Amino acid sequence: MSPYRMTRTLPEDATGAALRADVLDGLTRMPKALPPKWFYDARGSELFEEITRLPEYYPTRAEREILIGRAPEIAAATGARTLVELGSGSSEKTRHLLRELTGLHSYVPVDVSESALTGAAEALLEGHPSLHVHALIADFTRGLVLPETPGPRLVAFLGGTIGNLLPAERAEFLRSVRALLEPGDALLLGTDLVKDEAVLVRAYDDAAGVTAAFNKNVLNVLARELDADVDPDDFDHVALWDRDREWIEMRLRARTALSVKIPELDLLVPFEEGEELRTEVSAKFRQEGVRGELAAADMELARWWTDSAGRFALSLATAAG
Ligand code: SAH
Ligand code: TRP
Repeated sequence: MSPYRMTRTLPEDATGAALRADVLDGLTRMPKALPPKWFYDARGSELFEEITRLPEYYPTRAEREILIGRAPEIAAATGARTLVELGSGSSEKTRHLLRELTGLHSYVPVDVSESALTGAAEALLEGHPSLHVHALIADFTRGLVLPETPGPRLVAFLGGTIGNLLPAERAEFLRSVRALLEPGDALLLGTDLVKDEAVLVRAYDDAAGVTAAFNKNVLNVLARELDADVDPDDFDHVALWDRDREWIEMRLRARTALSVKIPELDLLVPFEEGEELRTEVSAKFRQEGVRGELAAADMELARWWTDSAGRFALSLATAAG
């Protein structure tokens, strides 16, 4: 018998109240915007997995290279007995950590996507039959409450997902992570790095159109969950590099003037021809920026590793002081 539990801290109708609030707020502001967590229904999680295998999408391969090379050091430095992973998705890269964290008692994957958590747990338990897996369906931006498991704890936040938060959200998020850390605990943070614009843009606008389908999937979520009258094919996928803010911005651009009717919200959302809806940012980092953001949240950058091509970084941080 595998020690596996799943706890839901998101209410069953989370894609009810919270989605409605976000859509009402985001589609009535100028410019229009939606928060990224709504990409990840079952189809969205599948499309993201496809993205991680695209030739243009280097971050997954770069981060995997670092994890494979540095997992022994991470294990030695942390001696973790509990691994908490925020936005764990398929937990595919996590295997490399689990292999080296020999004293590990519990693995706590946290994700808004129930389908991703279920699939990941099955695969992981095959390789680690005695590991206690306590999956949490939760929003990591909304005050996490972790299960009682033995320390020290390592909190991993991989994939560059921190870059999908806006700067103010990031600061608040890092403070909330800091609040989870007890002496001896650590944070393992994956960040994509600033690099050549063409390489960045290609990673978010691939030739096969998988990222375009992923971006448009948020409209399918609106259609299904809110009965929105919207055709994803009325929009074009746009990815551009904002060099001042050093982030990739994903948008959906209306091909013609149109309106999106959302009866559940009693809302008619007009788009002008060419009008864009911002769906996601993906910030790119530099070491000094990461160090500074950690310090502002009362954490200390202890280790910094990059892949051999210098594209992606993994940081190990501890509570300051
Ligand atoms: N860690 C994996 C997946 C990254 S994709 C990797 O590195 O490949 C981002 C993951 O975070 C998705 O699985 C998505 O469902 C999850 N996610 C996004 N926003 C979230 C939020 N606010 N709370 C919890 N999970 C979230
Ligand atoms: N965390 C991933 C990233 O920023 C998420 C992601 C990859 C993404 N491709 C995307 C989000 C396309 C939206 C659209 O790299």
